[in-house]
Amino acid sequence: MIKKLEKSELKEKILVTAALPYANGSIHLGHLVEYVQADAFVRFLKLSGKDVVFVCADDTHGTPIEIAAAKEKIPPEQLIAKYYDDHREDFASFFIDFDVYHSTNSPENKFYSDFFFEKLTEKKLIYQRLVELTYCENCKRYLPDRYVKGKCPKCGAEDQYGDQCEKCNATYQPVDLIEPRCAICGAVPVRKQSLHYFFKLSSFSQQLQQWLDSNDKIQPDVKNFVAEWIKNGLQDWDISRDDPYFGFKIPGELNKYYYVWLDAPIGYIAATEKYSKEKLNQTATAAYWHNENARIIHFIGKDIIYFHFLFWPAMLMGVGLNLPSDLAVHGHLTINGEKMSKSRGNFLTAKDYLAVADHQPEFLRFYYASHLVKAISDINLDFEDFKTIINSDLVSNIANFVHRTLVFINNNFDSRLGDLGDDEKFFLQQLQPKYEAAIKHYSEYNFKEAVRGLLEISSVGNRYFQDNQPWQLVKTDKKKCHGVVTAAANIVKDLALLSLPVLPKYSEKVLRLLGVDGIEKLSFDSLGRRLAGSKIGQSRIFFAPIEETISLAKVFPAVLKVGVIQEITEHPDADKLYVLKVDVGSSKKVQLVAGLRPYYKKDGLLGKKIVVASNLKYAKLRGYESQGMLLAADDGKKVVVVSPQDSVPGDLVFPEGSDAKAILANKTQIAIDEFYRLSLKVKDEKVVYGGKPLRTDKEIISVDAEDDAVVR
Ligand code: MSP
Ligand code: ZN
Repeated sequence: MIKKLEKSELKEKILVTAALPYANGSIHLGHLVEYVQADAFVRFLKLSGKDVVFVCADDTHGTPIEIAAAKEKIPPEQLIAKYYDDHREDFASFFIDFDVYHSTNSPENKFYSDFFFEKLTEKKLIYQRLVELTYCENCKRYLPDRYVKGKCPKCGAEDQYGDQCEKCNATYQPVDLIEPRCAICGAVPVRKQSLHYFFKLSSFSQQLQQWLDSNDKIQPDVKNFVAEWIKNGLQDWDISRDDPYFGFKIPGELNKYYYVWLDAPIGYIAATEKYSKEKLNQTATAAYWHNENARIIHFIGKDIIYFHFLFWPAMLMGVGLNLPSDLAVHGHLTINGEKMSKSRGNFLTAKDYLAVADHQPEFLRFYYASHLVKAISDINLDFEDFKTIINSDLVSNIANFVHRTLVFINNNFDSRLGDLGDDEKFFLQQLQPKYEAAIKHYSEYNFKEAVRGLLEISSVGNRYFQDNQPWQLVKTDKKKCHGVVTAAANIVKDLALLSLPVLPKYSEKVLRLLGVDGIEKLSFDSLGRRLAGSKIGQSRIFFAPIEETISLAKVFPAVLKVGVIQEITEHPDADKLYVLKVDVGSSKKVQLVAGLRPYYKKDGLLGKKIVVASNLKYAKLRGYESQGMLLAADDGKKVVVVSPQDSVPGDLVFPEGSDAKAILANKTQIAIDEFYRLSLKVKDEKVVYGGKPLRTDKEIISVDAEDDAVVR
């Protein structure tokens, strides 16, 4: 049987955190490696009967936020509010179930940041010193962190920010950058002095080394990294930034702020505070951060090791709070073997993934779990492999076993379970070691082996079903047959319980079908309990196999809209060009410059409905701005403007079968070349993209031109 919790373990309170995502962009597939892993681990702990809380928050301060807000021309407060909602939506759609999701721009975080600052100052662990900073005379501001770019002083990589190198992960000061440039205007910055606050990290070398040595949970490869840094000598840490900066003001200062990495990890405590106050009526420190029965586990990516293994534990030591008992560090995500990047076109947000993967968040959870071990090696999302894993492991093995078992009971035994004979009981008993193995793998963050364990269990189930041939047995020995499929149904139940950390929604649906009650209070204790005699629900196919390998090109990158030409003038300096004012259904008209004068008279165009590519980067054509492009077919003999009939201005034009919502959610502007690469063409008098006709919700878009005419 599954081991019961010891008394001491029952008292233990576990706090699990995932790194706080920056509030400057949407959650992407790289982030999800971490949040899926942490969520699965928390679900595992909860099923094991542990008292565990899962906290996270948005990381809202510092230059990444300021720069993104400036780009969108909105105040930082508005930007972080927008991403707060956006992040929560994405987490919910992947079933990442935080007990609290907070923000570092919160009163709780202000309180604890000041608490750390004051306490560390009192203990003389913070002091002031004049520093040389990069300053842009053109922008009239200091250039901290991401406001300055140059070559990494450690490894020489080009185009790195002023705080950390993305190539070698080293952290340094902006003045250390080789050949620095202002990231706003490109000017070469000067050096200017300012009085800054420093945290005495250097005095923690020994304590940190001792902590590392005494902690047997920390991954050995990470330990080596950190030990090397300590050996090379730790520098004191600049924890202040000058105006203008988006963050918390330092008490008693007019124009100085905490550096974002000071208040970001404190955000873990702030989020805990929000939870503890509301749910436990306790402070975060009483409940977790200063409670000797508490265990703190951080999930982080390898790029932020320095902050979590040096700065953060030293700060905690300084104020006398609990140190993390474990930090699970994961590697980075690559997609089809390459680093994810917008320029490579393989950058997928959580929403993009849902659009290309048929809205199957659990496919990704299952895929990640199938690859995750407690190691800092990178994880590759390969879409061929993805299809194989989903189709052969999840669909053909697990989901097939579940469905064939339940549907057989639906069809042959009026949806009622039978009794288990001695043979069946003995058979089920033999599976226990496999259950225990899966549980052990989960507890060691070895999701890959845990999933392998699930697959073994379901293979055993499939074989058992196959060997007993219930479709024959039902004719010769109905009672025996009932016992066999009831045993199989018990494996289904146990398999669903064991899969819950990875496949929370699917497993829940299966357990509901089996009438396992108290779904909200499920625990691995139920693994020993046998179902017999009860009614089950009607089984359905929850997962269908993936038919085509996911191709990134499936996210149609152009936002095409129906418009109507409202004004038309000749371009004064170009005899082929018209300047058009087009209504595309929004309050502002769009100006287009189009080379149609050789083919159309003004009258032939005025009032005409057209299709406009509305998310192209703006271009100037002989002094006139073109804010998009209208579609026309060119078959070499004539040029025909594509003109919808039944649609109205503002209607989206999209390739049939693609996800209109995902296309509309796309806020990136594309270059004209990228648009041309879509190779829109005419086929049977329709405009097609990769074989699919373009359409609105009202009609297929047609055009009177020869086959293979290019449309652009
Ligand atoms: N805001 C900081 C964390 C502060 S924690 C006190 C930060 N934010 S982040 O949005 O850049 O990353 C959040 C987490 O996602 C980090 O643990 C990071 O390692 C992880 N990942 C971000 N991109 C990733 C990949 N491409 N692959 C795997 N994990 C990645 O860092
Ligand atoms: Zn500048």
